[in-house]
Order: sequence, then structure tokens, then C-alpha cells
Amino acid sequence: MQEPAAEARYPLEPSPEEMRSIGEAALAFVVRFIQDLPSAPAVDFDGVEEVVAAIRRPPGDEGRAFQDVLDLVGQGAAQAFNTTGPGYLAFIPGGGLYAAAVADFLACSVNRFVNIWSPAPAFAQVEWTVIRWLCDLFGLPPGSGGVLTSGGSMANFSAIVTARRTLLGEEFLDGTLYYSDQAHASVPKAAVLAGFSQRNLRVVPTTSDLALDVEALAELVQKDRADGRRPFMVIASAGTTNTGKVDPLGDVADVARAEGLWLHADGAYGGFFQLTGEGRELLGGIEQADSITLDPHKGMFLPYGTGSLLVRERRLLREAHMLGAEYLQDLAPEGEIPNFSDYSPELSRDFRGLRVWLPLMLHGVGAFRDALQEKLDLTRMLYEGLRRSPGFELPWPPDLTVVPFRYQPRTGDPETFNRRLLEEINGSRRVFLSSTMIDGRFVIRACIVSFRTHRDRIEEALDIIRGAAATLDE
Ligand SMILES: Cc1ncc(COP(=O)(O)O)c(C=O)c1O
Repeated sequence: MQEPAAEARYPLEPSPEEMRSIGEAALAFVVRFIQDLPSAPAVDFDGVEEVVAAIRRPPGDEGRAFQDVLDLVGQGAAQAFNTTGPGYLAFIPGGGLYAAAVADFLACSVNRFVNIWSPAPAFAQVEWTVIRWLCDLFGLPPGSGGVLTSGGSMANFSAIVTARRTLLGEEFLDGTLYYSDQAHASVPKAAVLAGFSQRNLRVVPTTSDLALDVEALAELVQKDRADGRRPFMVIASAGTTNTGKVDPLGDVADVARAEGLWLHADGAYGGFFQLTGEGRELLGGIEQADSITLDPHKGMFLPYGTGSLLVRERRLLREAHMLGAEYLQDLAPEGEIPNFSDYSPELSRDFRGLRVWLPLMLHGVGAFRDALQEKLDLTRMLYEGLRRSPGFELPWPPDLTVVPFRYQPRTGDPETFNRRLLEEINGSRRVFLSSTMIDGRFVIRACIVSFRTHRDRIEEALDIIRGAAATLDE
């Protein structure tokens, strides 16, 4: 056996000078990247094949200069949807707060283990403080709790597993769960992953405003019960992905209570509007939910990979997820701070809490509330601007910050026209929108949730959309 060399060069541990040099280059890149965002294209794939080909090469045995690698990262970031830019109004925009990036840098550097409290009590408390703040925001009682997840999909999954294990027990294949035809696709996906099949899933129709039809829900539940099924859960949307519609949460809660159903509110997109006065009013009833999904990587403008699940009775989340292991016997049992791994499918994971907590500490809650209110105001501006423009149809007034619209051309097939209209709008590269299907028809939608989108960009978006429609409809 060879003796380890005492003074061998060990690139995995750069010298202080090397660390500084790499760190300063990365910082300079980030500052320039953020400064350039207002003028950067909203989408750009020109030359992406070359970047992908360069990155396809496997790593060599020897390392490369940091600047070379950083250049590749820069090119990769540029040849993409500009998800951190002010013109990104597609799908549900994510965020990318600088303070969160700094938090991740710190968290990855110290790399503490936070999913059990005793290895790093103060950092586990950071996550618990975040969860308690969220529970308080929704008026959940002291016995509530939750976990930070990788996103809304995982939160919906754990919510369904918890409802299933709490209400159905080991034999659950006669259980039925309910969600509207506007629910996010992660809901049926989570249900299937939780062991159910199409036989257990009930899609509740929506009313003309695309909100869950509460009467239809009650009827479906009663029919299933009469057929010998066990209705156990309803999932309401606190802001749908298609149109931002909030289901009538108070009425759904009434049905859930009367029928003994677990009420889960999917607030992945819309939940954080609870911070604003009008959002709180719209979301009224959410405080009655048994569990709530929230995505800080949407409504708190944080980077992808930051979701959360809140549960009214946190012991139920724990009972659904906890299985002990002998090799963890040296670690303290749950104390004042939870062992989050007992509440989630995950053991080792990133320190998500710091990227939520640090921006809150640095900027204060008010900064988030003001930014969300600004998005509500900008949405109204875009909606009214398009509504007053000839040819545009906006059948669904926004509850939150999604504006679905289409254009009725003077001649030709409206479907083809609107597909071309979307291409033309996105061809501007100043704004980037996406589309969906509603009632079998193609609909363009703009979603305003980026903290970098301000009035000037929405005014520009209005000009671009109207101009594109006028050009195509000549
Ligand atoms: C309403 C809703 N629920 C769930 C999800 C899934 O969340 P994630 O993409 O964080 O997994 C989304 C994503 O857009 C959503 O809009």
C-alpha cells in the first residue's frame, strides 16, 4: 500500500488566494449578469447547440481553469428562457433573489446537516422559524408544523400520503380523492405515486369562472359513498396554474367538514398572496385547511428547489412519514425543534431554510408584501389594457396575477391565429409568454410573479401584444 504523500498538491482544497480568486470571479459574473438582466433577451437559443456540445464532453482527469468553466456557465445561462429577467411571464415564473444566492453559498460552504435537529440546532431552528412563520401567516394552531420541500409537487405528494395514512389505513384502494379539472398536474401524479390509480381519482367540474364547483363536489362524494367507496380527501387550488383562479375555499371547507374529508389547499402559486390585504381576503377559508402547499420559489421569488408543506396537526405528517433506523440511534429524538426527516421522505438534503430565512431577515416581510401587491396591480393594468383593446377576449378576470387572453381575428381560424400571435409576441424577445388549453381552446397567458417585473415592462408588453395582433390581423 502506498503512503499518502505529505505535501502533495491537493486541488480539492484550494488555497485562500485561489478561493478568493474563484469567488471574486464568480461574484463579478453574478453582479454583471444581474445588472444586464433588463436588456437581456427574454428568451434566446441562438447558438445553444454549440454550448450543449461543449458541455456534453465528459470531464477530463485534469482540472481546467475556473474562467473556462465560468464561461460555459455564462453561455448556458444566456442560451435559455430568461427565467430571472423582468420579461419572463411564462408558466409560473420563478425568482432568483440575490440574497438567496448568497444564502446558498453560505449554506453549501458550511454544509451543516439540518434535517435532524441535534447535529446543528441553530440551523434546524432557522428552518423551524421559517415553518412557524408560515403557519402563523395562515392562522394555523400551535400543533401545526411542516417541512421545506424541493417544490410544490413533493409537498402535494406528502400531503396525499399523510391524508391516506391518516384516514384510510393500510387497505386504501377503496378511497377516493377529489380535485377540479383546473388542478395542477402534480396532484393526480402525486396521487398515483401515493399508490392510487385512476379508479380512485375524481375530477370535479368547474363553474364558468373556472373555480371548483362545490355542489358537484358534494354530489360526487355522496355518490361514491353510496357506491361503497371511502371519500377521504379534497384538494382545492389556492390559485390555479391556468388562470390564477382561487377555488371557493370556505365552501370547500364546509363540504370537507361535513363529509369528513381531509382538505388540502394547493397554494404553490397563489399562497403567498396571503401576505397582501386583498390576497388574504381572496384566500379566506384557507386557514381551515388540514394542509397547505406553498412554493417560496414562486411567491417569495426564491430560486427553484424551495417548496413547503404545512400541516394543521403536524403529528399526522410525522406518523405518515416516520420509520426509525438503528444507525441514527446516537442522534437526539425530537425536542423543541423537530427532526424534519421524520416528517418527509428525505434524509440528507440541502439547507433550504437559509435561502428563505436570510432574505426575510435582510429585507423584512414588508418588502415581500409590497412586491406581491405590485404584481397584483400590474396584473390589473395588463388585464384592463388588453380588455380595452379591440379584438382581445378576456373571459376570466384575474383573481391573482395570471391574465389569460386570446384574440378574435377578423378572418381565418382563431386557433391558428393565436398560436402565431404567441410566436410573434415571444419573437420580440422582450417578453416571453406561454399558452394553455381551456375548454378545448388555445389561450395565451401572462403570469406576473417575477420580483423584477415592473410597470415599464408591462407597458412594453401591452404595446408588443397589441402591435403583434394588429400586424397579424391586417
Ligand atoms: C398550483 C400549482 N401546484 C403545484 C405546482 C408544482 O410545483 P413545483 O413545480 O414546485 O413542483 C405548481 C407549479 O407550477 C403549481 O402552479
